[in-house]
Amino acid sequence: MERNIKLNNGVVMPRLGFGVYKVDSDQMLSVFNTAIASGYRAFDTAYFYFNETAIGEAIKASSVPREELFITTKLWNDHQGYDSTIEAFNASLERLGLDYLDLYLIHWPCPKDDLFIETYRAMEDLYKAGKIKAIGVCNFKQEHLEKLLSETEIVPVVNQIEYHPYFNQSELQSYCESKGIQITAWSPLMRGGELMTHEKLVAIGEKYHKTPAQVIIRWHLQSNRLVIPKSVTPSRIEENIKVFDFELSEDEMQQINNMNLNQRQFRDPSEVKIGDMK
Ligand SMILES: NC(=O)c1ccc[n+]([C@@H]2O[C@H](COP(=O)([O-])OP(=O)(O)OC[C@H]3O[C@@H](n4cnc5c(N)ncnc54)[C@H](OP(=O)(O)O)[C@@H]3O)[C@@H](O)[C@H]2O)c1
Repeated sequence: MERNIKLNNGVVMPRLGFGVYKVDSDQMLSVFNTAIASGYRAFDTAYFYFNETAIGEAIKASSVPREELFITTKLWNDHQGYDSTIEAFNASLERLGLDYLDLYLIHWPCPKDDLFIETYRAMEDLYKAGKIKAIGVCNFKQEHLEKLLSETEIVPVVNQIEYHPYFNQSELQSYCESKGIQITAWSPLMRGGELMTHEKLVAIGEKYHKTPAQVIIRWHLQSNRLVIPKSVTPSRIEENIKVFDFELSEDEMQQINNMNLNQRQFRDPSEVKIGDMK
């Protein structure tokens, strides 16, 4: 499997990246360096993770050339709206210490506030001005995407959504793929926990000398999803990227698909409103 994918606007992005939600700023440098040494080149942060400055410092200290890195951040709910999006983007870029961003995403649609269209138009303008290589969304359901696609110009490259064996959003994935929108799985491991010792995943992994986490990550990749597992544990950071040397069979893929419980770990995006989360 190719390690990179070409997004709908021609930009190339690693299929497997590194999520930094809940990575404390004082851990960031060592976590980032371990991730780089293990082979990660894509990093997924957000205003709301309050660690953009720390990751910016780690990028600056790194010897990896900027053009080899793929940096994603996200526009927070409270900053939705045209002018506030431009302002929030510039502030994020400054905290990151970058002069361009690879990917900028709307963090939640907040449909009840009805501001995501003008928010996205601001992102389109930043994209056209060359400040962002690609723009996209997170947590958009089909109805939100239908509205976005009918009222804006640029098709999002990515929809980053909750996706793991207990919450399989294959219908939304099919819809997105029909529009050229790539799915990225967030909380791809369901935040660790019970899946890490799940009997079925242990049994599949034993065949390949792989852990349940590696089996899940491989399942995402073989299902054409980008994936951004997070860990602050050096051995896990390394483990999670060692997934390009085995292949799950069709039957094993199906067994994992069948684990679906339609069980979200977080709120339904239709219900999330501006100001809800601080
Ligand atoms: N767009 C959105 O709304 C949204 C929402 C949530 C997350 N995200 C993004 O998605 C990224 C990943 O999601 P996530 O952080 O929620 O959850 P996750 O990646 O599914 O799980 C992370 C948890 O699993 C543990 N873990 C990692 N690798 C492991 C392994 N090999 N074996 C056992 N345990 C392991 C980690 O522990 P340790 O760290 O202690 O090793 C951590 O507690 C985030 O960092 C963020 O970038 C986006």
